[in-house]
Amino acid sequence: MKVPVAVIPAAGRGTRMRPATRSVPKALLPVVDRPVIQWIVEEGMRAGVAEFVVVVSPGVDDLLYSHFEGMEGLEELKGFADVTLTWVVQEQARGLGHAVLQAQEAVDRRPFFCLLGDNLVVPGRDHLAAMAEASDGRSVVCLRPLTDEDLERYGVAEVGEALAERVVEVTGAVEKPGRERAPSRLGFVGRYLFTPEIFPLLAGLSPGYGGEIQLTDAIARLGETGRCLGWVADEDLLDVGNPSGYLEASTALGLWHPAVGARYREFLRGLAEGS
Ligand code: G1P
Repeated sequence: MKVPVAVIPAAGRGTRMRPATRSVPKALLPVVDRPVIQWIVEEGMRAGVAEFVVVVSPGVDDLLYSHFEGMEGLEELKGFADVTLTWVVQEQARGLGHAVLQAQEAVDRRPFFCLLGDNLVVPGRDHLAAMAEASDGRSVVCLRPLTDEDLERYGVAEVGEALAERVVEVTGAVEKPGRERAPSRLGFVGRYLFTPEIFPLLAGLSPGYGGEIQLTDAIARLGETGRCLGWVADEDLLDVGNPSGYLEASTALGLWHPAVGARYREFLRGLAEGS
């Protein structure tokens, strides 16, 4: 499936990253040499996306916007000249599902990737192109096996038949079920390919887990009607939404980085030898 547009929900308050996020939006926290949001836009570009709809909280749009301003001419934003960014403000913090729904008008009736701002990938270890390829016209959610502890922190899929290597049917979903209620051990790790079928489902939702409109609840409805597949990724995504994950992401992307990776590797080796 050709996916022309990506939605980036970036309206989260970043509470787990306080005090770093007291005045800086979490999407602008730097990882190595660029902010989180830029890593995500670049990931989308590698999958052929040239149009991004960024959902932001009130008061943050200007700051995020100014990062990309004049990007056509900037050496450090090479390749961005053909990229369009649209900003949508989520006026009230009513949950991830509500945030994605705010992008409906901009997305229109097209399939779209949904790229959560807490999750990054190391370039070259991407999942989006494979997810698009796995789609037979249905939505595709990226899945990973979870630990017991993570079953309380992630949305979890109810899984049906395996259709191909790494591709399964998703028949339902539960947001942060915990070990007792988890329908499987496969959880949502922040990368989704949705057909526009998701929008009316989101619009029809009542508040769910935590009193918020949950994207996972709309995926549950998609799954119940046989309209959702899962792509089981072969490695974990990075999670910059909490301090230890942020450190791990900085390390993984620092080691990858062409300009600083070699020196950083030496530094880490020295540290390990000294310990
Ligand atoms: C959100 C989603 C959850 C998903 C997770 C991935 O949760 O609601 O289903 O598994 O992102 O990072 P949050 O991290 O916003 O609590």
